[in-house]
Amino acid sequence: MENKRAQWSSKIGFILAAAGSAVGLGNIWKFPGRAYEGGGGTYLLVYLLVVVFLGIPLMMTELSLGRAGQSNVVGTFRALGHKRWSWVGWVGVLGAFIITCYYSHVGGWVLRYVAGYLVDGKLIFADAPGYFYEMLGLHADGTTSFPWAAVVFAAVFMALNVLVIVRGVSGGIERFNKIGMPALLVLLVVLLFRSLTLPGAEAGLRYMLHFDLSALSFETLLSALGQAFYSLSIGMAIMITYGSYLPRTEHIARNSVIICLMDTLVAMISGFIIVPAVFATLGADQIGKGGGFAFVSLAGVFEKMPGGRWFALLFYLLLLFAALTSCVSLIEGIVAFLTERFGWQRKRATIGVSVVLFLIGCLYTCSQAAFPIKGLWLDASGVSTPAFCDAMEYLTDRLMIPVCALGSCIFAGWVWKPANVIEEVERCGTPFRLRRIYSVLVKYVAPIAILTILVMSLVSGRTLS
Ligand code: PHE
Repeated sequence: MENKRAQWSSKIGFILAAAGSAVGLGNIWKFPGRAYEGGGGTYLLVYLLVVVFLGIPLMMTELSLGRAGQSNVVGTFRALGHKRWSWVGWVGVLGAFIITCYYSHVGGWVLRYVAGYLVDGKLIFADAPGYFYEMLGLHADGTTSFPWAAVVFAAVFMALNVLVIVRGVSGGIERFNKIGMPALLVLLVVLLFRSLTLPGAEAGLRYMLHFDLSALSFETLLSALGQAFYSLSIGMAIMITYGSYLPRTEHIARNSVIICLMDTLVAMISGFIIVPAVFATLGADQIGKGGGFAFVSLAGVFEKMPGGRWFALLFYLLLLFAALTSCVSLIEGIVAFLTERFGWQRKRATIGVSVVLFLIGCLYTCSQAAFPIKGLWLDASGVSTPAFCDAMEYLTDRLMIPVCALGSCIFAGWVWKPANVIEEVERCGTPFRLRRIYSVLVKYVAPIAILTILVMSLVSGRTLS
């Protein structure tokens, strides 16, 4: 665009916006389930190592690419003189596009639960699965209808995103995160206190702190890798866009450490909320990581705790903030691309793209339970036709996120070269002391790790996030 590129107006504003993107549904409901499956403390340790050795360097890489290129995800590669690598950006925008279609709808379901618990928790407690499936258009008598409840709330959720994004980078996104992120942290602490003071919570706490080498497996490592990338918003080129709004005076390495640690802290606290609470109420084996867990099983947890309805309300509010700040970043990545590439006006691009995302998302919600809409999937076991909603998630989690992450990594490690990343990092005036380690990680360790995830997920058909 001809006018000056938008910038974050403050350091804390940027950090909160990037952490807001990273902290999302992945941290709060997927992470606890994975941590439980991976053996509690054992998983936490592996996850932490993955974040330190892969998450932080990749976050640094994406932010540096963005700041050096001063463009959107696709334009960055061209701006750095490697137009042929623009495909990495394309995979990123397309991936963000598909994720947003369903992320925004799940955000709508969360909003529906906020409203549900606000009005009257009893209805949900009385029949938690019934309430969930009714929302998705599957009735108790087995008949189905259009899932109005879910779709209307998804539309409202999308409208909230649009309201934030049309106000721009610093006036909208930054300002919103400055309120949303502290609110999220306060809610998190309140819920942590509630969970850990439940009678019977110690068993869960002990499990989460228990480290057992024999529980360590290749599976756990893969699960931690996939989870970390998704959770840190890496491999979706979001951080390239956010990095492009970062002033040159900012210390990319230090900021990457803060953002990654904030994201990890929120994931860990969520683990320490959910796992002990489920241990104390339903029993350990009820811990899961999908929507059924977040909406159905958790209702049982809240029902059994004193003041449960109000804590449920706080929990879904927490999820709502987390989902909103992540969804905003996803849409921003797409809008930045559309406005710069096609010269579209920001407001029009935001509204237009949000309507399209919302409509495609309707297929995601409809294919959950109400209608048998199928998608297409191809992996080592051949062609299959999973439900449309599952096919969308496979496409992003198993294919697009790892491909985009791998592309950015190979680009930074072998094409643009680590020296340029380091130069960008040092532009703030402070020398980057870990340059050697960084180069080895980005050139060898990260690509091998990502390639392994990619191959394993396509061969074994496991979800990665
Ligand atoms: N990191 C977000 C989460 O944990 C999801 C996300 C992925 C957001 C990719 C933006 C880009 O839920």
